[in-house]
Amino acid sequence: MSGVGIQIDRISKRFAHRVKGEVYAVRHVSLTVQPTEFLTLLGPSGCGKTTTLRMIAGFERPDEGRVRIGEQDVTDLMANQRNIGFVFQNYALFPHLSVFENVAYGLRVQRKSSGEIRRSVGDVLAMVGLQGYDQQFPNQLSGGEQQRVALARAIVIRPRVLLFDEPLSNLDAKLRVHMRGELRDLQKRLSITAVYVTHDQEEAMAISDRIAVMHQGAIVQEGTAEDLYRRPASEFVAQFIGRTNLLTGRVRSVAAKRIEVDVVGQCLLFSDDDAHLAPGQDVCLVVRPEMITLRPGDSDIGLRGEIFSRTFLGEKVEYQIRVGTNILQVTSYDPAQSGLFSGGQRVTLHLHTDSIQLLPGGPV
Ligand SMILES: Nc1ncnc2c1ncn2[C@@H]1O[C@H](COP(=O)(O)OP(=O)(O)O)[C@@H](O)[C@H]1O
Ligand SMILES: [Mg+2]
Repeated sequence: MSGVGIQIDRISKRFAHRVKGEVYAVRHVSLTVQPTEFLTLLGPSGCGKTTTLRMIAGFERPDEGRVRIGEQDVTDLMANQRNIGFVFQNYALFPHLSVFENVAYGLRVQRKSSGEIRRSVGDVLAMVGLQGYDQQFPNQLSGGEQQRVALARAIVIRPRVLLFDEPLSNLDAKLRVHMRGELRDLQKRLSITAVYVTHDQEEAMAISDRIAVMHQGAIVQEGTAEDLYRRPASEFVAQFIGRTNLLTGRVRSVAAKRIEVDVVGQCLLFSDDDAHLAPGQDVCLVVRPEMITLRPGDSDIGLRGEIFSRTFLGEKVEYQIRVGTNILQVTSYDPAQSGLFSGGQRVTLHLHTDSIQLLPGGPV
């Protein structure tokens, strides 16, 4: 098995809606997935992730646009002609078939010999850690074991790409974290291209080489977890990936990479060279909770605030701080060294302006 690329070019899908008439579930989505890459479609419920994945799989035909897998345009091919493995959210195992027969299903359809079927099924069951489960039935398995069977069934046909639709969402939190590590290891071991769908930003960040964030039927930003966290292109992405404070500011001056911004009565200096901002313009500051350092007392440099609440979490402390009319989230690591602040205490907030993203337009 080795990975091939996937290219989708301006695909759209409309569905009939009882009240709204025809609505776009996916609108002009283009995306390139590199061979052996693990790409995740991330976004809130209803944004079009499943519909996009089903169009790659061939379970749904796009109203417009093309899908390519490797060198081949597969837009007009049925799902079973595309050589893909698909892992569903609800596993979709055959309840009346044993684990062995569930996994063997695709090979039987391909009319493989019984010797080859026995060998291949044995290999993939070992690969997903289910040796000895051949004769069990789905209702005799835990959720995690069922998910492994679904995974084994998807990879046994040696697909060119693996597609996952929220495969871990029915598992408990601890198992979810464990399984996502296993999934990624397996995908890398098989060097197989994967497209994964989730609404869980932490899962997406942990498992993916690259993430495409979807909103209302469109891809709004693509990048590595780090790109999206550090350089969100919109308030939507800033708020969807990680925790964040959004502060309103107004540009005071712009000169050769130096941008002065008035924020809560203070003038802060930024050195952003590609923000395309003009004096007088409203901006939104994307300030992550760890991009603020606290010092005791009022100072003329930095924003003045008052501790509103404090949550001690061992290796870090999370504060809520009243700054003007805003409540800011601030995370302080190494509290033993930086000291603990208590409710009502006056503090000065130093913003790490190098790490703070400026977006045109104030928060809505
Ligand atoms: N078969 C369908 N018929 C009508 N509307 C659909 C159908 N499938 C999905 N939709 C609508 O398309 C939108 C996107 O759905 P979906 O792709 O399942 O989103 P996600 O997987 O991101 O939660 C939703 O508004 C949903 O109601
Ligand atoms: Mg879905």
